[in-house]
Amino acid sequence: MEVIIVENEQQAADIVAGSIGLLMAETSAPVIGLATGSTPLAVYAELRSRYESGDLSFADTTAFLLDEYVGIPHHHPESYRSVIRRVFTDHVDLPPSSLHGPDGEDPKNGGARYEAMIESAGGIDIQLLGIGSDGHIGFNEPSSSLASRTRLKSLTAQTRRDNSRYFGDDPDDVPRHVLTQGVATILDARHLILMAFGSSKAGPVAAAVEGPVTAMLPASALQLHQHATVVVDEAASIELRLRDYYRECYANKPAWQRI
Ligand code: F6R
Repeated sequence: MEVIIVENEQQAADIVAGSIGLLMAETSAPVIGLATGSTPLAVYAELRSRYESGDLSFADTTAFLLDEYVGIPHHHPESYRSVIRRVFTDHVDLPPSSLHGPDGEDPKNGGARYEAMIESAGGIDIQLLGIGSDGHIGFNEPSSSLASRTRLKSLTAQTRRDNSRYFGDDPDDVPRHVLTQGVATILDARHLILMAFGSSKAGPVAAAVEGPVTAMLPASALQLHQHATVVVDEAASIELRLRDYYRECYANKPAWQRI
């Protein structure tokens, strides 16, 4: 796993958007996996700006969301489909029919259908990830099987508290259930990029990168992936025991080596 410690979110956005740009230059039909939440917002702003300046086109790109709430309609302003359209895809030339998310309105059949859609697109080239304060990726809460596929999950009280900022600050208004790509679904992507910013992520980041691989901290499954990149700011890196080593590796990386 490569750990990159950046000075700020914009530096992270430059690195991640650069990697997506290379994928687009080299692949005729790129497939990207999108996370929601606050962490990737700077990346989406950077991708929008590269589109606006003519450097990037998403016309041939397919995008898959990581997860979706169950119990609110697709058009709800906080459904992840609505969020990703608002912060990213409505502002670029990605065709609306090329944006896919788990169908939170059909949780019973939605998981298997979503798996089939990802497979028929040829799998995901780059999957963006955030990390929850409890170590979740997607909405794979602690105790999620590392072999899990897209399925219905219940959110922990901690995650509902964390996400209440999008629901009038009332955790009771945050949906209890979600459809999320499973841990194994996420691990199928060819390149995983997990970002984390701020001191509240320092504990989960250190556990994910340097702790044991365990279902109790689903982000630790990234250790099983052969191409995983973790991009963190200073505050989120503070509990990493090998942070000086990671810094040195990145600073001395040969120019021809990509993330
Ligand atoms: C969002 C998702 C979640 C978030 C995580 C961090 O699609 O799957 O795993 O990435 O909850 O959220 P933020 O970025 O808001 O701290």
